[in-house]
Amino acid sequence: LPPPEGARPLAGKRAVVTAGPTHEPIDPVRYIANRSSGRQGFAIAEALAALGADVTLVAGPVTLPAPRNVRRIDVESAREMRQAVEDALPADIAVMVAAVADWRVAEEAPTKLKKDGASLPPLTLAENPDILAELSMHDRRPRLVVGFAAETDNVVDHASAKLARKGCDWIVANDVSGDVMGGADNRVHLVTAGGVEDWPDLPKSEVARRLADRIAKECA
Ligand code: CTP
Ligand code: CA
Repeated sequence: LPPPEGARPLAGKRAVVTAGPTHEPIDPVRYIANRSSGRQGFAIAEALAALGADVTLVAGPVTLPAPRNVRRIDVESAREMRQAVEDALPADIAVMVAAVADWRVAEEAPTKLKKDGASLPPLTLAENPDILAELSMHDRRPRLVVGFAAETDNVVDHASAKLARKGCDWIVANDVSGDVMGGADNRVHLVTAGGVEDWPDLPKSEVARRLADRIAKECA
């Protein structure tokens, strides 16, 4: 059962939520990005705050308005996001919803790359830090660390493997085989050490409320 209307079971708890894409600079005017809208992460930050949590929302570049009663920190790149998460510690709860770019350009060009008529600019990639995996092993690890996994196939298998690999407590496995990225509804499975819960297709706001209720049960 969800907590009664107006109940604040997470009062006194600190939460950090990441949301949105990251932008990885190529040169001063170009970047690598992805299609994350940030809506699911923003909704989760709002839902946790509605249950009384003190929420820091670390947001990649999105145009969404900040939810009420949430401390919003805007970042661009994965490395800035990692630093902002670190700065938000200690926290009791972490929900890493951001679609962090897996790769950045190894060396950002200091000036705009120009067509020289001959060769193409070589873009050498470097792997970004895994913020979720690092947080799961952190000496100030939040008591509950939740990750997201957007998958197009074998959704629960991939998510279960990620749960083990990253060392977090729960993974919300998001089935993105349909038109989900940027859309209003999400089909998710909650994967924990105890098993897998299949949730019905729900608006992102409702996924957020259910997840916040589950977090309150675990942490209150
Ligand atoms: N994540 C992160 N830092 C990264 C990459 C991912 O914190 N550099 C987090 C995401 O916020 C999410 C979870 O890890 O909570 C899973 O992200 P996902 O992209 O599904 O996993 P990857 O390990 O990057 O695997 P892949 O993209 O290859 O499926
Ligand atoms: Ca990834």
